[in-house]
Amino acid sequence: MNTSLNSDNLQIEAPKVSPVINKPLQKKTEIATKEISAATETLAKESVQPSHHGADRDRSPYLVNRLLQAKEKNLFAHVKFHLVKQEIDRLGLTETKILDIGCGLQVSRQYLEELGLSFRYFGMDYEPRFEPDAVVDLMNPVNAATGIPFEPDVILALDVLEHLHEDVEVLEDVLANLRALVPDECTMIITLPQMYRLDRFKLSHLFYPEHKIRLRQDEWRKLLETQFDVERVQGLGYLSVIPYLPMASKRYTPENRLGKLFNYLRGTFFEWGPFKPADLFLSNTLGKLGLFKSLSNDVLFVAKPKPRKSHNLL
Ligand SMILES: C[S@@+](CC[C@H](N)C(=O)[O-])C[C@H]1O[C@@H](n2cnc3c(N)ncnc32)[C@H](O)[C@@H]1O
Repeated sequence: MNTSLNSDNLQIEAPKVSPVINKPLQKKTEIATKEISAATETLAKESVQPSHHGADRDRSPYLVNRLLQAKEKNLFAHVKFHLVKQEIDRLGLTETKILDIGCGLQVSRQYLEELGLSFRYFGMDYEPRFEPDAVVDLMNPVNAATGIPFEPDVILALDVLEHLHEDVEVLEDVLANLRALVPDECTMIITLPQMYRLDRFKLSHLFYPEHKIRLRQDEWRKLLETQFDVERVQGLGYLSVIPYLPMASKRYTPENRLGKLFNYLRGTFFEWGPFKPADLFLSNTLGKLGLFKSLSNDVLFVAKPKPRKSHNLL
């Protein structure tokens, strides 16, 4: 995910030594060491200082700074929000009511306005500095439904779930809470990383603590299907994957030639205007074909909430 909303390279969130259940101590130590060195490197390299009032309340300082500083329009975002708009258009609603969870800087809202969609919008995020319509932590969504001024038809969860927790079991609980929150008839549009930073391969030399979990498309689907019926799956972004290929090398570091190649490809070369319609075309063709669905930057799921479990005692 190389949108402005797909964070990269730097990481200054306080290193957390995540509890890795059932793994040997040595592995935990390796992970902790990598996390600490990634955070230290980042601090040294980027020296991103909280520059806005309220920065001391940031839950993830790295991501907040990254999103606040990044360019909002890019190849990946172009394709992503066009596909989201296409999915909303399919619903044939006159005025769509959208709840955007993990909304970040509400770039979805900007794109959907520019694309001419008629909609109402409510965005939730746990970062106050993004100034969401409601500050809600999806890990603890107490009273999350209060304050939403409408019953949403569409719930967006775009590149959010991978940020929440490292354990699938915990994510199952998060999804159960989410299911309880959303109307029975709504449509969920969910995007998740695949080839972004080569996530789906879970390569040990690529460590990116901002993504707390890396899953393949089938694993994400299985997780979603604990609470939602997946109706459609589509690959999103093919040209925007190419910059990540240098990361396949074990020699890749953000500072060396491979890192510089990545930055050039992602930040400059693939931002050439004509790539945008081309990548949208590829996503609407290859993105619907078997294996190709998991070789894209992100995967897009369209899903419906499963029927609520009734508690008949008889
Ligand atoms: C990669 S950004 C995606 C932003 C937006 N959905 C988009 O695609 O344009 C991930 C977002 O998830 C939010 N987030 C991460 N963990 C969260 C949590 N526990 N509760 C609410 N939001 C969270 C972050 O603050 C960030 O805005």
